[in-house]
Formats: sequence, C-alpha cells, structure tokens
Amino acid sequence: YVLGIDLGTSSLKGILMSQEGSVVTTKSANYDIDNPKQGFSEQKPVIWVEALEKVLTEISQEVSDFGTALSGISFSGQMHSLVVLDENNTPIYPAILWNDVRTSKQCQEIMSKMGDRLLEITGNIALEGFTLPKILWLQENEPKVWARVKKIMLPKDYLGLYLTGNIHTEFSDAAGTLLLDIEKHEWSKEIADTFNISMEVLPELVESVGQIGTVTTGIKDKFGIQNEVKVFAGGADNAAAALGVGLIDEEIGLISMGTSGVVSSFESKFTNYDGKLHFFNHTVPQAYYSMGVTLAAGNSLNWYKETFGQGKGFSELLSDVNTVPVGSSGLLFTPYIVGERTPHFDSKIRGSFIGISATHEQRHFSRAVLEGIQFSLRDSKDIMESAKGKTFKYLISVGGGAQNPDIMQMQADIFNTEMIRLTVEQGPGLGACMIAAFGCGFYPTLEEVTKAFVHYQLETFKPIAKNVAEYEKIYQIWKQVYSATKNLSH
Ligand code: XUL
Repeated sequence: YVLGIDLGTSSLKGILMSQEGSVVTTKSANYDIDNPKQGFSEQKPVIWVEALEKVLTEISQEVSDFGTALSGISFSGQMHSLVVLDENNTPIYPAILWNDVRTSKQCQEIMSKMGDRLLEITGNIALEGFTLPKILWLQENEPKVWARVKKIMLPKDYLGLYLTGNIHTEFSDAAGTLLLDIEKHEWSKEIADTFNISMEVLPELVESVGQIGTVTTGIKDKFGIQNEVKVFAGGADNAAAALGVGLIDEEIGLISMGTSGVVSSFESKFTNYDGKLHFFNHTVPQAYYSMGVTLAAGNSLNWYKETFGQGKGFSELLSDVNTVPVGSSGLLFTPYIVGERTPHFDSKIRGSFIGISATHEQRHFSRAVLEGIQFSLRDSKDIMESAKGKTFKYLISVGGGAQNPDIMQMQADIFNTEMIRLTVEQGPGLGACMIAAFGCGFYPTLEEVTKAFVHYQLETFKPIAKNVAEYEKIYQIWKQVYSATKNLSH
C-alpha cells in the first residue's frame, strides 16, 4: 500500500491505495481555523498531528494488513502557511495560514525593496497569502518569538517531521514562500539577506519525490506498523492536485471549480508571466506549473443560491439553465464578490449583474452566474495559451462543475476546448499517493504511475461552433466590465 495524506485548511484526508492504483479506503478528520482578530487566520500545528493520528488509527483498525503491507507515505498540503520551530523542533507560534490577510504592509515593503528582482527570482509578486510577508510580520510584531526560531517550514513538512524526526521541505511548497530561486532550485540568499533571514532557518530542500526518512519506531508501535515505511516529501496541494489529474505535459490544462476556481498549466521551463499568474515548481522534478485563481467560483454560486435561490438546492436551482440561450439573453455576471486575483489582483473590486431585462427570469440569472465564473477562468487560460503560443489539446474539469453536464458543455464552449473529467475524484491526496508509489519504485516513471492511478471518463464535451462564436462576442464585452466598474468600490 501507499498512503497519501492531504493536509487541507479545514480537514486532513488520508487515502490508502494499492500498489496498482486502486483506493483501499479513505478517512478524514476536521479541524477549525482560529480567527483571533479581523483578517487573522491561524491553526496550531498540534491539531494537524491529532487529525493525522485519528486518521491513522481508523485506517489501521479497518485494514487488517495495514501494518504489514504499507510501503510508503507522502503528503499534499495547504500552501504558504508559516510554521516556526525552536531548537527542540517545537512550534512556538500558531501557524499563520495562507488565507490570513494581515500582511498588506509587508507585501508593499517586499515589492519596494526587491522591485523586479522578486519576479525574476521567484516568478511571483508579493501577496498577503505567501510566506515571506508572514515572516516579516513576525519579525516586526513578535521579535522575541522570531529570535527563538531555528527553522521555518510549511504545514505538511511538520507531519513529515512527526513521522520521521527529520526536517525538510521540497520545491513545490518552497516556491510559495517567495524565498526560493525557482529556476536554480535553491533558497535565494539575495532575498534572505534583504530581509535579515538567516539561511540557517531555511530547511534542506529535496524534490517532491525525494525520500525524507522512514517512519520512526515510536510511530510504528503506536499504529501497529511492522515493516519499514519510507516517507517522501510530497507537494503543495495545488501541485499534488495537478499530478493527481495527470497534469504532466503541456498539452492539457486543469480547471478546478471549488470555493475558488483554479486554472493550472504544466510548464516545462521558467516563464516570467509578469506576476499575472502564480508560477511555482511542480511535483514533477525540474518542471513547473502556472496557476490562475478566480477567488469566488463556487463561492459566487453559493452566494447566489443563498441570496436569490428561494430555498432551492443547487440541482433544483440549476435544473433549467439549459432552457436559457447561450449568453443568458444579454445578462452578464462578474464573480468579483470578494475581490479578484487573476488577472486583476484587486481585492477591492466587486461583482456585477449587467444587462438586466424585464423579460429575464431566475433561470437567466442562474445561467449568467455560471457563465460569468467560466469567463473569469478563461481569463487565466488565455494568458497561459498566449504565452505558450499554442492552445490546450484538452482541459480536465474537476470540482463542483464537473458533476454537471450543462456546466461541462458551457466550459467546452467558453474555453473552445474539449473538456474531460475523471472517473473518480480524490483531490490532492491522490497526487501524494502517486509520489509515494513512484518513490517506492513501484513504477519507473511518473508517466507510468499516472497511467495506473489516473482515469478519465470516456464521455467528453466538445465545443459547439455556434456557441463558441456567440460566447466569443460576449466575452469581449464581459472583459470590459472590470475596467468600467473598478472604481465603484474603491
Ligand atoms: C494557492 C493558495 C491556496 C492554498 C490552499 O496560492 O493560496 O490554493 O494552496 O491550500
């Protein structure tokens, strides 16, 4: 067996898989986010360990040969969140999470001190969520704590430490710190020096598929494990999710519609997107992926349901969107209800319904919301395609949208690309299992692991030329809504 552990923001999920790539069992444990002040978002690393212990206990109780057949473990984890350890490897401050926004001032400081060098070295601009601004906040606001910090790490690395006793991180998560020279694959001394961060506090770097140790005797005894279990570094959740859908070459892209929407593209070499997209190291050695984010994708739909849905559930609310013509009879929606990341990086912009007619009914609004979300995702996809100078052969759709054939067709028509979906979705934890399967030597290449572990449905959704042409016209108008409305809420 291999075990993939996905350390999410609200829960930890363990997926136990066979060497051949089938799921044996999954278990999960939830935890809370602490919001001690407006804009603060924290978790104590101990709650992740407790969640892992619960999941390991349940799996070992359910699967009788768990203790003798488990060969490898790896991780996927929430990105960017800052874990700080003292000389005893004990966390001495709550982890400041990726969705914490206390660090606007620090981001400005980073941009003004680093200028263009930041993009050249890290491939990214400074955002509140990333790790470096959190370090600066700690230096400034908790200097006594910072003085005691011996190592920093990312959340999933703390579980690696718990299982093996060793401290490491890997490139896909290190890329999200803003301290990694992503092309040279080493910590940037230039950035560390600029912000008075000793190179000593930065953990040793390995590939995602690199082995960081074996499970300690203490942990083995606790969960009835008898054989040696290798532990591999794993990846940032978005990088592991990309691997878990088979994003291992440039021909395909990933569209994920969760609370936020993510578009990801495999990148074989470093590309400076001028900060318009995130750009991180992949879990695939030496490779990268670019990523665009629509902050409110599922979140826009949820807001719409709660506010205008008259108590209906999603399936009832969306049941008649296919009776509405392409383009929702002139009704446009922009999903900027909590601001937007890609391509605008504007936290103050707000969303809109435009073109409301006395003839519109609820179903028009439902369709317009779905279309507006896809237009926003298309913004990211178009940046990727124009940089590469080629179009995606097909896009893999995951998340809420992939369950709904109307949304799949809408995506095919708006993206003008054939859409495919997975037979079963397991999320980033599947990527972690694949890393472990490769690390254990069960397969010679990640391509072979992908063939065994990732399965697509035969049914695909192809663009319909008439709809593509209609959407193209509307998208050009939709794109102007941002600049026309951006000063409204400033
Ligand atoms: C990526 C990001 C989130 C987290 C979620 O930049 O902030 O997607 O990775 O865990």
